[in-house]
Amino acid sequence: MNPTKSTCDDSRLQTDDVIRMQPDDVFRLQPDDIFRLQPCEDGSLTVHSALHDQCFHSSAGAILESRYIYLELGLKAYLSARQNAALQNAARREQADETDLNEQAGETSRREQANGVSILEIGFGSGINALLCAIEFENARRNRICCNKAQTDLNNATSNCENATSNLNNALAFPEEIYFESIELYPIPEEIWSQLDYASLLAASDSERDHRINIDRNQIKAIFEKIHRAPWNQVCEILPGFKLHKRHEDILTFMPAAQYQVVFFDAFSPDCQPELWSKEVFAKIKEKLLPGAVMSTYSSKGFVKQHLRDLGFEVCRKPGPGHKRHVLQAISH
Ligand SMILES: C[S@@+](CC[C@H](N)C(=O)[O-])C[C@H]1O[C@@H](n2cnc3c(N)ncnc32)[C@H](O)[C@@H]1O
Repeated sequence: MNPTKSTCDDSRLQTDDVIRMQPDDVFRLQPDDIFRLQPCEDGSLTVHSALHDQCFHSSAGAILESRYIYLELGLKAYLSARQNAALQNAARREQADETDLNEQAGETSRREQANGVSILEIGFGSGINALLCAIEFENARRNRICCNKAQTDLNNATSNCENATSNLNNALAFPEEIYFESIELYPIPEEIWSQLDYASLLAASDSERDHRINIDRNQIKAIFEKIHRAPWNQVCEILPGFKLHKRHEDILTFMPAAQYQVVFFDAFSPDCQPELWSKEVFAKIKEKLLPGAVMSTYSSKGFVKQHLRDLGFEVCRKPGPGHKRHVLQAISH
């Protein structure tokens, strides 16, 4: 093996002592040589891949980055826009005093259909994005059950009214079904993912007001293990209503299997793998997006923005997490 210093320059975590493999070395490597763990500032671990001399997350942290860029700017942004649109439609209908029963029935069935969400992730990596979505999903399901119970119990409903209302609003905006499809060409081995221990950090963040979760460490750990042990290239139910489809494929050649409302574009940086950030790759995804779909990504490179705009996305630059100045949110109308 003849390692050389990395020359990649981007926002993914890199360290000066990281070595870069020569192409021929890749075929002689064992999984243990390829991946190693790297601590981040938020206390979480990320993974460094020697194949691309890249870390899966920025130095600010795996949990911080995933929560903000993918959960908040991706999934939750989509859900809140969808909820607002539904409320506006309802208000408009009320104003127009619509009484046509057929129309109401049609609207109800459209709403029911819309209650699922399908997510496409580019780069499965550590599985943290799937884990965070699964936790939010389970949390919302538990809140719905709690709130329904409180509403039927008049005493509880009066004393817990404020909490119940805010939990119920969040829970109602959350879908009752999620299909999560994720593409990965170089899966990390169990020796690596089993050391990530996101469960302890996430369970501890229960005390943070904005990230309150009702799931304990062991349950989070069990979900994470189920996500990683799920066989590749099959749709697996991780939780009732939460389906995961991990695809062991190349981003360049995969064909999207469904229609999506949310895309987490989390490939390695455009400096290192520009071919994955091409207009062709974005175009094949765009073709499969439903109206109002939201794509979020950590890169705000000029050519990435341009490709997205050329394809008709409405591109919004958002403040980044940690040291990152900007990230992107792109909406497909
Ligand atoms: C930024 S990292 C992973 C991020 C992941 N979402 C996470 O939070 O851990 C990018 C991922 O893309 C994968 N990857 C790199 N080239 C690929 C390709 N051509 N096709 C599919 N996956 C690829 C890498 O192995 C890595 O897991």
